[in-house]
Amino acid sequence: SVLEMEVEQIKKGDFDHFMKKEIHEQPGSLTTSMRGRLKNGIVGLGGLKDHMRTIRRSRRIIFIGCGTSYHAALAARPIMEELTDVPVTMEIASDMLDRKALIFKEDTAVFVSQSGETADTLHALEYALENGALCLGVTNTVGSTLARKTHCGVHINAGCEIGVASTKAYTCQIVVMVMIALAIGSDKLSTLAKREAIIAGLTKLPEQVRDVLKLDGEMKVLAQSLIDEQSLLMFGRGNNYATALEGALKVKEVALMHSEGMLAGEMKHGPLALVDEHLPIIVIATQDDSFSKQQSVIQQLHARKGRLIVMCSKGDASLVCPDGRSRVIEVPQVADCLQPIINIIPLQLLAYHLTVLRGYDVDQPRNLAKSVTTQ
Ligand code: G6P
Repeated sequence: SVLEMEVEQIKKGDFDHFMKKEIHEQPGSLTTSMRGRLKNGIVGLGGLKDHMRTIRRSRRIIFIGCGTSYHAALAARPIMEELTDVPVTMEIASDMLDRKALIFKEDTAVFVSQSGETADTLHALEYALENGALCLGVTNTVGSTLARKTHCGVHINAGCEIGVASTKAYTCQIVVMVMIALAIGSDKLSTLAKREAIIAGLTKLPEQVRDVLKLDGEMKVLAQSLIDEQSLLMFGRGNNYATALEGALKVKEVALMHSEGMLAGEMKHGPLALVDEHLPIIVIATQDDSFSKQQSVIQQLHARKGRLIVMCSKGDASLVCPDGRSRVIEVPQVADCLQPIINIIPLQLLAYHLTVLRGYDVDQPRNLAKSVTTQ
C-alpha cells in the first residue's frame, strides 16, 4: 500500500536501500554493541558471568551457525583460541545435524544467529542440549528462540537489520565474540598486554570504520569495472579467511554474480588453474602474521598474469604491488583480530554497488529470505 511504502521510505532516511543504510550505520552499531561492556580495561558480559568457570574448563568450544553468522564465528576463531587456550572447532548447523557430529558435556557450544530463529541453528541447539553441552547464544534478537533456549549468552545490540544480506550484524557479531574471548581469557597473565591492546583497539574501532566508509566512491568505480564479469574470486588466510568467504557471499547473494572465497594457502592445490588475465581476483593482504605469505601469493598470481585487486594496509601499496599493475584498496591497520571488521566494509560496499549497477534488488535478492525458518 501507499502507506507501507511511505513508512519504508521514512525508515530508510537519506539512503536508497536498507543495505546501504545498514552498511553506513556500522560506526554507531559497533558503539552500541560495546556500550557498557568495556569498563576500565575490563570486559564485563553480564549474560556469561555465572557460567564463566564452566566455559573456562571446557575441553572444546564449538562455533555453530549458518551463512554470515558462521563467517563471523570463523573470523573470531583465531583470537578465541589464542586468548582461551581452548581448541575451537567450527560447525555449519545443517552439516552438524547431517553428520550427527560428536558433541559432549565437556563442550561449550556457541550458537551464532542474527535472527535467533534460523531452523538449522535451532535444531543444532536442541541436539547440543540433548548431549549435555553448555549452550551459549550470540544473537541480535532479544526474546528470540535462541536467546530463550540457550543456557547463557550475549546480545549483539546491532539494531534492527532489514536488508536480507547481513552487514552491520556481521561486524557486531565479530566484536561481541572478540569480547567473549577477552572475558574468557581474562584470568591469564601471559596475554595481558595483548588483551589491553585489543581493548584499546576496540575503543578506536568505530572511528576507523567511519574512515573506511569513505571508500564508497572508490568501490563504486571498482564495481563499474566488474559489472560484466562472470565470476570474482577472493583469497584470504588466517584472520581474513572469513573476510574472503563473507565478501564472496555478499557478491553472490545480492549481485547475483558467481564468487568464491578461498584460503590462499590452498591456491596451489587447484584454484591456480583458473588464473588468467581475465578472471578478477581480490587478494586480502593487510598487515598481520600472514602478510609475507600473502606477498608470495601475489607474486605467484602475477607470474600467471592474474588480474588482481589487492586489499592492503595504508601505505603498503608499493609493497603489495611494486610494478603498479594491480588495483589497490588501502584500509587502516588495526589489531589483528579486529582487521576482519575493517576489511569486510569495502567488500560490502563493492557488493552493494555491483548489485545496483547490474540492476538487481539489493534488499530482497531473488530466492532468499532474511530468516530461514524451515529446514
Ligand atoms: C539467511 C540470510 C543470511 C543469514 C543466514 C543466517 O540465509 O539470508 O543473511 O546470514 O540466514 O541467519 P541468522 O539469522 O541465523 O544469522
